[in-house]
Amino acid sequence: MLQIDILTVLPELLESPFSHSILKRATQKGLLDIRVYNLRDYTPYKHGQVDDYQFGGGAGMVMMPEPLAIAIEKLQEKTKYDEIIYLTPDGEKLNQPVTNQLSLKENLLLICGHYKGIDERIREHFVTREISIGDYVLSGGELAAAVLVDAVGRLIPGVLNDETSALSDSFQDNILAPPVFTRPADFRGWKVPEELLSGDPKIIDEWRHEQALKRTEERRPGLTDY
Ligand code: ADE
Repeated sequence: MLQIDILTVLPELLESPFSHSILKRATQKGLLDIRVYNLRDYTPYKHGQVDDYQFGGGAGMVMMPEPLAIAIEKLQEKTKYDEIIYLTPDGEKLNQPVTNQLSLKENLLLICGHYKGIDERIREHFVTREISIGDYVLSGGELAAAVLVDAVGRLIPGVLNDETSALSDSFQDNILAPPVFTRPADFRGWKVPEELLSGDPKIIDEWRHEQALKRTEERRPGLTDY
């Protein structure tokens, strides 16, 4: 059972992504529990203020330390977190080994930043891990949090069945997945490789493995490096 708490100024953004398909089933099975908290509910400032100008000047607001510290400490009264994760473009890059690791935890707190980010003191004193979902800048951490929750949630033991097994995913063995085909076997004259139609598991496995290696070599030659 993995509980993921998310702290955000835009809870609406996180309503839909987890209520479908595999994550919905994970939640219904009691394997995943996602709780979204509105940072503005914890601010000591008027009008729900959570951000302010940066010291030293410069464009862009910074999320103030008090609302975050108050919210985190309040949540910590109920839950002991294995990791408090701040989603940020300067964090460690999210990849399959990291998602595998996180899927085995019990309690995670995700912090979504906005504007120019959060006050550095929160990163120093509360955050235990900083994660980026890629080398581009999003307008907030919410979509990054949604990506992380999706990638992690589907790996929780018991979430996937045979049909959706993670074992054959791209990246699971540092190798990309082979091409896949479904009916019809001949679509506009474009034919499904005969190996896949052979009915011989050995031929099929060999073809898939060869294709996976070829794809990895062509598209991501450095994939085995991490
Ligand atoms: N917040 C803004 N951009 C981000 C990114 N690329 N990854 C994680 N959090 C972010």
